[in-house]
Amino acid sequence: MTNLNICPSGSVIGARVLNVSLCDVPSAGTVEEIEQALENYGVLVFPNQSPKPQQLIDFSAVFAPLEKTELEKARLEGFEEIFVVGNVGKGLVSFAPKDDQQELEWHTDHIHHDIAAKASLLYALEVPEHGGDTLFACMYSAYNSLSTEQQQLYCTLDVINSASGLEHYLAEQNLGNTNSVTKSRSHKQVLRPLVREHPVTGRRSLYFGNQVSIGIAGWETTRARTFIQELTTHACQTAFQYRHQWKAGDAVLWDNRRVLHAGTPYDVENSRRLMYRTTFRETVPIERIGLQKQ
Ligand SMILES: [Fe+2]
Repeated sequence: MTNLNICPSGSVIGARVLNVSLCDVPSAGTVEEIEQALENYGVLVFPNQSPKPQQLIDFSAVFAPLEKTELEKARLEGFEEIFVVGNVGKGLVSFAPKDDQQELEWHTDHIHHDIAAKASLLYALEVPEHGGDTLFACMYSAYNSLSTEQQQLYCTLDVINSASGLEHYLAEQNLGNTNSVTKSRSHKQVLRPLVREHPVTGRRSLYFGNQVSIGIAGWETTRARTFIQELTTHACQTAFQYRHQWKAGDAVLWDNRRVLHAGTPYDVENSRRLMYRTTFRETVPIERIGLQKQ
């Protein structure tokens, strides 16, 4: 029994929650219900929101410790927990391709950081009339649709993740040198298991990114990149997706442990997109299946 007013999207993931205000700090009971809904639906949309920056931070901070924004150009002045996405503000911060002909950048936030992101909350202040959607794909569905042999193999693989993969992709998009959203960060490689298990429910998901995952431990690079690209095509197929077409005032919370997401292009020269993101730090170790039980 939940007190949340939830409308499922009709896709395999995604639901709207109609009776939560981000202007208020949620009670412990509401937090528990939102976390359960997030496990059920992967992506939760809270429409018609208008939180001030500090209210957005206060709402978010009851779910997990929040990440501080390292990147100066993406930091909201005076609110270091808010990461500013879009083309308004100090410069372009976008992970979307240049146009519809280009490959999407499917990823899960901060997989390449020492501390990954458990969940992210993105609040839209201004949105373009066309484009700039966010696609989400369910990695429970992706894992469950693999053959038993594939599941067994994938549970033994470690993925190499690095900001260098993102930088290479963004340079290819040629969106202008203002989009250097990862520059000056370290290129250190962070190893993560390809398959992870939800700490409470034990459900298994695929955990990787199309560009940020630059290799598989022990594999030759070309073979690994081909594998990752083919896996993306399978894992992010339309049947596993929810597409969010933003309206100003929407806030979307997603579970980085079990969905990948990707931005779609928009006209960065002639339209405005402004979003604030808070990033919830991972609070459990991310270990290979089986290892964590030894
Ligand atoms: Fe992201």
